[in-house]
Amino acid sequence: MNEKLTIALTKGRILKETLPLLARAGIAPLEDVSSSRKLVFATTHDDVQLVIIRGTDVPTYVRHGAADMGVVGKDILLEHGAQGLYEPLDLGIARCRLMTAGPVGWQGSGARIRVATKFVNIARSHFARQGVHAEIIKLYGAMELAPMMDLADLIVDIVDTGNTLRANGMEPLEEIAAVSSRLVVNKAAMRSRYRSIQRVVDDLAAVLEAGDAAA
Ligand code: PRP
Repeated sequence: MNEKLTIALTKGRILKETLPLLARAGIAPLEDVSSSRKLVFATTHDDVQLVIIRGTDVPTYVRHGAADMGVVGKDILLEHGAQGLYEPLDLGIARCRLMTAGPVGWQGSGARIRVATKFVNIARSHFARQGVHAEIIKLYGAMELAPMMDLADLIVDIVDTGNTLRANGMEPLEEIAAVSSRLVVNKAAMRSRYRSIQRVVDDLAAVLEAGDAAA
């Protein structure tokens, strides 16, 4: 039985912004996570270990209690659901927007449109809310290629700087949701390990508050 509090972190860009926040809350990995092939890391905090996984897997680990807490993008929570999770903190990092986008000057014909995305649930409910008949085409990456290759009319994707859209002759159309990374907590663990979890939540909240004050 593992007694340590386990925090599941999303690897990639979110991780780069998460580690400084955690460090200011007294939780720093004991080795350089970027140069290690390990997946589990002990930290400077005796009671906390980190696991570093794909964002789409973070809610699964936390929901099942394999990790007590996690850091994950709101886009993943919207797409895959947040059942079994508390979301006590918006960490305010990795901010971007979930948007529809299309080729520059694209005019919908009003007929059925084809939408390429990896966010199939978000896209489906977005177009359903608008009463638009959309065929959702699931892709795992490079959504911007789909209209160019006539696989789809529009895409639903993350937009940060907009550079990827511009570089591929596309423009953002509608914002579906603002995205940032969230701290999530397993609901059962929140009860059974309340003190240690709430301490981490409070420490992170204090770090965020101090950051806001400095900004
Ligand atoms: C995301 C997204 C876009 C790009 C947008 O991909 O899918 O391609 O970033 O950023 P921009 O507006 O600043 O150009 P990411 O690089 O995260 O890789 P992914 O395809 O694995 O999600």
